[in-house]
Amino acid sequence: MKKPKLVVANWKMHLNVHQASLLVNKLDKKVSLHRGVEVVIAPNYLDLQPISLEIDRRKFKLAAQDGYPIDEGSYTGAVSFAQLREMVNYAIIGHSERRRYFSESLELIRDKMAAAIRNDITPILCVGETKEEKQDKETKQVLHDQITTALSDLTSEDIESVVIAYEPVWAIGGHNPAKPKDIEQAVSWIRYQVGELYGKLAADSIRVLYGGSDEPEFVTGIMEVDGVDGLLVGHASLDAQQFADIIQAVYLVSLSDPKG
Ligand code: 13P
Repeated sequence: MKKPKLVVANWKMHLNVHQASLLVNKLDKKVSLHRGVEVVIAPNYLDLQPISLEIDRRKFKLAAQDGYPIDEGSYTGAVSFAQLREMVNYAIIGHSERRRYFSESLELIRDKMAAAIRNDITPILCVGETKEEKQDKETKQVLHDQITTALSDLTSEDIESVVIAYEPVWAIGGHNPAKPKDIEQAVSWIRYQVGELYGKLAADSIRVLYGGSDEPEFVTGIMEVDGVDGLLVGHASLDAQQFADIIQAVYLVSLSDPKG
């Protein structure tokens, strides 16, 4: 059976505990439970604990936005996947903002992938090229390097739970998502890479999301792209109505998905 569509709200470094709680309450009223759509919220570390006590777990799952690859020790300021495992089902790993502002290397991201899996947390690996890399026609090489390194310590059993999000860096935070044709090419290349490493079954069954300017008016078109299984939503997920509209659009597409 095909896995459900996945919609992830990446709240990034927005919302204090009170604001996060208000947003969860609003979302709870606006979002209905759909069997074919899994909805995941990724608040900051501070908001995770109170929200974990408030949310209806049938409707919403939780994700961390990051995690430290070592399970325990003297690492001031860090939170490990081992500490997060009771609270979250998912973790975003290798987001371009972490690669850029926190200098995360391919190898660190590889270690985080293994740590998440070791702690029964489903990693959502973010990959994508910058504007310059796109202009220089390096997208395929960048995706290849990001994927092959990040997955290099994972077994074929581990890969069954991995999610990959294609997030072209140049499309993040704006109002212009990548064109459906470009998304289709990138997603098919991502699946090809997974296939090279783990075989056709893994390539076909791994969930691949798209992130970058996922606003309600665009998401039906994006979800109709062959091979796209869901969305990693940034700014539009901070608005209850917009995020509820996005979930509804994904649900409607899931109904007409022949593989659904
Ligand atoms: P936006 O939806 O704001 O473009 O952000 C995308 C993103 O970075 C999600 O992880």
